[in-house]
Amino acid sequence: MRSRTKPPNASDSRTSPSRTSPPPSPSPPPPTGRTADVLVVGGGVIGLVTAWRAARRGLSVTVVDPEPGGGAAQVAAGMLAAVTELHHGEQTLLGLNLASARRYPDFAAELTEASGEDIGYRACGTLAVALDADDRAHLRELHLLQQRSGLRSEWLSGRECRRLEPMLAPGVRGGLRVDGDHQVDPRRLTAALLVACERASVAFTRAWVRELVVVRDRATGVVLTDGTALDAGQTVLAAGSLSGRIAGVPEHVLPPVRPVKGQVLRLTVPERYAPFLNRTVRAVVRGSHVYLVPRLSGELVVGATSEELGWDTTVTAGGVYELLRDAHELVPGITELPLVETRAGLRPGSPDNAPLLGPTALPGLHLATGHYRNGVLLTPVTGDVMAHVLTTGELPDEARPFTPRRFAATAPAASQHLSELPV
Ligand code: GLY
Repeated sequence: MRSRTKPPNASDSRTSPSRTSPPPSPSPPPPTGRTADVLVVGGGVIGLVTAWRAARRGLSVTVVDPEPGGGAAQVAAGMLAAVTELHHGEQTLLGLNLASARRYPDFAAELTEASGEDIGYRACGTLAVALDADDRAHLRELHLLQQRSGLRSEWLSGRECRRLEPMLAPGVRGGLRVDGDHQVDPRRLTAALLVACERASVAFTRAWVRELVVVRDRATGVVLTDGTALDAGQTVLAAGSLSGRIAGVPEHVLPPVRPVKGQVLRLTVPERYAPFLNRTVRAVVRGSHVYLVPRLSGELVVGATSEELGWDTTVTAGGVYELLRDAHELVPGITELPLVETRAGLRPGSPDNAPLLGPTALPGLHLATGHYRNGVLLTPVTGDVMAHVLTTGELPDEARPFTPRRFAATAPAASQHLSELPV
């Protein structure tokens, strides 16, 4: 996973002045770069959709990222799983997730129109299955919660599950058919957002941010690691799990986000096995989530671990083993498929698993981070919410519960600056 940090070994190298050098003169003020209405720190899907939507509303926007288009979405499977990933206590988040899921068809069409790129939106539905009595009890509980929340899902016997997905293991004990949980290809989504941003005249500064600039209690832009200052009327921190580690951000507005590692595998379904699966298939095996997301291109994405290991993005033998073992219990034929990629990404986790959207207590500074397991799902609604905020100064009603101010009293101190983190 890439970050927007400056690599530690790329720190400013200072050479001693030679004996013949003139005495050092006072350092000049940092050269000032372009002034934009909006500066977005972070060029992952959340930063890009914010930039695109804001630019479409007439704002001049600059995205700062050493490698725009990177970030967690390069690893994510792209499930739009508002219903199958419902959890107790997350009903408010459910509302936002559903709002974004509903927007996906129009969003995909609009983005395709703007970019000329297909984003792999596939209304294929999802089947969540149980392999043993414990899994079945877990799924029954989820089914009840879905029903209480007014969501549509249908309980199926093991035989009915296998009729839908013949590659499932004979031991499958039952499952939930969720026809409303779809998928998108996050890499295509990112590529389309990059083109759409460029066509909407969003400027890209491929650089590392050194710090946020605050002048008289107002955020006024950032300074890059080469000393260039970029001014902006409004600055948005959309740097995923790194958003809480940017130097210069006052402690009381630092977002309390943390990295949650996810290891993900990519396999290929050869033509002779197609269609291997018709829809996303998932299960909880011995307490761990495993999901298989089949794309029309033949790619099959298998995810994901969930590990609280700080900034570590190592792909481990244990992680790959567990994912393959669990996926194999679900769909035994998976061992025949070529394994083409293993990768780990960092989800930006927040204390309540929900995103932080909109203005902070520091004028001029906004957040669009903390999307945790739902960054790809929440991309359309985040773009709309942030564009509204940046043009009106107000959070729309649907996003009010996600104001960063809900953590104002509990934001932790930053122990490291962005520029000190490993990459
Ligand atoms: N939403 C899937 C994941 O975060 O693994």
